[in-house]
Amino acid sequence: PINELAVTPPMGWNNWNAFACSVNEHLLLSTAEKMAAFGLRDVGYQYIVLDDCWSLGRDKNGNLQHDPEKFPRGMKFVADQLHSLGFLFGMYSDAGSYTCARYPGSLGYEEQDAKTFASWDVDYLKYDNCFNEGLAGNPKITSERYRTMKNALQTTGRSIVYALCNWGEDYPWKWAHTVANVWRMSGDIYDSFDRPDPRCPCTGEEGYDCPYAGSHCSAMNILNKAAYVVHTSVAGAWNDLDMLEVGNGGMDDEEYKTHFSLWAAVKSPLLMGNDVNVMDAKALSILTNPAVLAVSQDTAGVPVNRMWRYYVSDTDTYGQGEIQMWSGPLSGGDQLVILLNAGNSPRLMNATLADIFYDSGPEGSAPEIKENWDIYDLWANRMDEATAQSIIDGSPTSEVAKFYYNATETSYKDG
Ligand code: DGJ
Repeated sequence: PINELAVTPPMGWNNWNAFACSVNEHLLLSTAEKMAAFGLRDVGYQYIVLDDCWSLGRDKNGNLQHDPEKFPRGMKFVADQLHSLGFLFGMYSDAGSYTCARYPGSLGYEEQDAKTFASWDVDYLKYDNCFNEGLAGNPKITSERYRTMKNALQTTGRSIVYALCNWGEDYPWKWAHTVANVWRMSGDIYDSFDRPDPRCPCTGEEGYDCPYAGSHCSAMNILNKAAYVVHTSVAGAWNDLDMLEVGNGGMDDEEYKTHFSLWAAVKSPLLMGNDVNVMDAKALSILTNPAVLAVSQDTAGVPVNRMWRYYVSDTDTYGQGEIQMWSGPLSGGDQLVILLNAGNSPRLMNATLADIFYDSGPEGSAPEIKENWDIYDLWANRMDEATAQSIIDGSPTSEVAKFYYNATETSYKDG
């Protein structure tokens, strides 16, 4: 890892999924205020990340300019406000001549732009991949392009989480551990659990070829690709499955629970991607489930692996209806097991201890199967919706204490 800033997967909010280019100062600050009021900041969602479309151009000295209509008081003001609300501030640029929405990119301006970001007190940089002038298609070239910005950020001396966003192109899971804190491993998520999008059917879900900008991958598309790469994550250097869609309305609540559980269990960053101003009680209770958040932030930092999958039918091209079992170690000798039913009807699923511990123990040896387990259902350890609703309504404060997550709390783990 390049630094100690992301020993557990970063958590926060990013505007892109719900707002795309409709960004401004008010959106960021009002979102932060709501997140604090809802207790989201205190359960760990600390980065407020601004995505594309914030800038205007460069001044005569080549310095990046913010758009004064969207950000009338400048970016440092936004950072200051977020900091005083107890959040950290994430910025966005691109390792190309333009961002995907055709605002100025940082290719060739890395040192200057890193200085600008540091002078604005930025704490996190998402670094996109559009208009890269052909400097892609080869891991060596791509990694150098991204490393240039890493070096520039380090030269500023400011602590800045570095989030590489090249959509899995050129196998970042093979080289990005010494380049970035997190790297995207797929095309863009869209708000669907398993429905393919004709614009990007994610035919590359198990290969690596669904990377073009504006691609639309369902949660299952991304997960079925992640199954092949998440084992490469280590504490401080994580595969990023893209921002969350919980609360955006395109999945039902069970699907959102599944989406959230898996993103937490494979140790993806957890960046909320919804409109916090219209969040309902269900979404809030999903995003604040203390036991699932504890899995995400577990100090062992080991992603779950997919131990098996079964297709339900031959026509099951995109993962609808299939069942999967994922498993991995937690700190304290505990073990996380996920039974994933991606279909629309109940199914009986068996996971034996031999399945669960299949690849434990040194390579080539028999699995180390520990006996005598207690089972704890993580989704049972959740804030109830009535409590969430009362927080949204701004009613009783005594209820808030119920879901404030205590990072040192371990009693939910029973074995
Ligand atoms: C492509 C990225 O993958 C998205 O997350 C988003 O940042 C857009 N670009 C912005 O243009």
